[in-house]
Amino acid sequence: MRSNGISSLLCLSIVISAIVSLPGNVSSAASYNHTHQLLYNRNLQHKRHDDFIIPESHESRNLRKSKLFPLFTIIRFTNEICRTTSEETGICYTRNQCTSLGGLAQGNCASGLGVCCRFIATCGAIVYQNGTSFQNPNYPSKYVPMGGSDVCQIRIRKQQNVCQLRLNFIAFDIEGPAATPTAAQGAANAMNDAGVCKIDSLALTSSGATVPSLCGSMNGQHLYVDFGSSDTITLNLLLGGASQKERTWNIEILTIPCNSIARAPTGCLQYFTGVSGVVESFNFQGGMHLANLDYSACVRMEDGMRFIDWSPCSPNSVRFGGGAAMIPTTPAANAACPNTLTDYLIIMQGVSFPLLAAQTNPTTSTTDRYCDLSFQQTNSYVRTSARPFLIHFRTDSAEGGTADVTSVGYCLRWQQNPQ
Ligand SMILES: *[C@@H]1O[C@H](CO)[C@@H](O)[C@H](O)[C@H]1NC(C)=O
Ligand SMILES: *[C@@H]1O[C@H](CO)[C@@H](O)[C@H](O)[C@H]1NC(C)=O
Repeated sequence: MRSNGISSLLCLSIVISAIVSLPGNVSSAASYNHTHQLLYNRNLQHKRHDDFIIPESHESRNLRKSKLFPLFTIIRFTNEICRTTSEETGICYTRNQCTSLGGLAQGNCASGLGVCCRFIATCGAIVYQNGTSFQNPNYPSKYVPMGGSDVCQIRIRKQQNVCQLRLNFIAFDIEGPAATPTAAQGAANAMNDAGVCKIDSLALTSSGATVPSLCGSMNGQHLYVDFGSSDTITLNLLLGGASQKERTWNIEILTIPCNSIARAPTGCLQYFTGVSGVVESFNFQGGMHLANLDYSACVRMEDGMRFIDWSPCSPNSVRFGGGAAMIPTTPAANAACPNTLTDYLIIMQGVSFPLLAAQTNPTTSTTDRYCDLSFQQTNSYVRTSARPFLIHFRTDSAEGGTADVTSVGYCLRWQQNPQ
């Protein structure tokens, strides 16, 4: 059985003395319409009904007194995301629907008419439900692959009128990328595989998106993935037997309808809203950015805003491509990034503040590329009015030796401004 987005309950109406109105998200479709009511009563009298007592509303009581006694009432509520008693994500269904769909009822929703139904998917699952959590086996316990490498895959089926997924990494910690150049590859500026997800990796496949291979620590990160012309998005988690690291993951899967205002613009792997916030590169918490990145983190332009300012979260929270040499010992002024860099941020039409010596007119952008040097001075930030608001992060397939060992990635704060 699939959800069509609405649950209906057939209820026995019982007169009680309290006058209680049903809250807004619940509609008692039939109690206000006797024509409708009678049709339902006739058709459904012999069917089984859920064991609910519906407090009568003022209106329906008056209606009943004035006309006929409505024995049954059809209650409808939408299958929305809800919070379980343990503050986890569920979806609101009737108790019977929840059980037959294979969920776990954990708390109430729709003013107590529905149950907050929790769906948990683990390796091998096929996912249909909004709000499903993809968890490691025995989560919240940690997971170590037994006897060699492990593949854990789930498939998420596209539902009608759904165009996109939002994946919330509530918890995510798998083996990180290769850290430093190996001796065999030579420590001094030789090509190497530092930054590459060699042992563990999360890959997503869909015709609608190119998602980089991800690994390391991604607690609190999120991704948007378009279905494109695919009817399935596959999450493929490879866990290498070479590591005994205790892995953990809990990814909340939200399905975004095509016409939803929550839908991220095409081309945005991450999408943030609000006038200010923080964005980190993948595995920033693990201390090293990933290789082969080429993606945009977008910010919705809020009402009345014209500019967005990007500033480091803390000193040295922007470090990639060029290592120590890129960090001035006495950061007297921001400096332009050499355009030979292979790891950089693009901020279209950005202007560095405090202004570079070369810049006289603050509205003139001299570069779109930003690196460590751009964010060194206290209070430095890059401002742009180019739309859409986004930063694009690009890294190559390797780190260039010891100099890049300081490649942690970025943590940037954004602030939108009306002028
Ligand atoms: C009452 O229900 C009938 C039958 O479903 C429908 O034709 C009519 O439009 C409804 N009236 C109102 C006021 O909702
Ligand atoms: C899934 O849940 C999210 C979060 O509440 C909501 O924005 C989205 O519209 C829901 N998807 C569908 C298909 O109803």
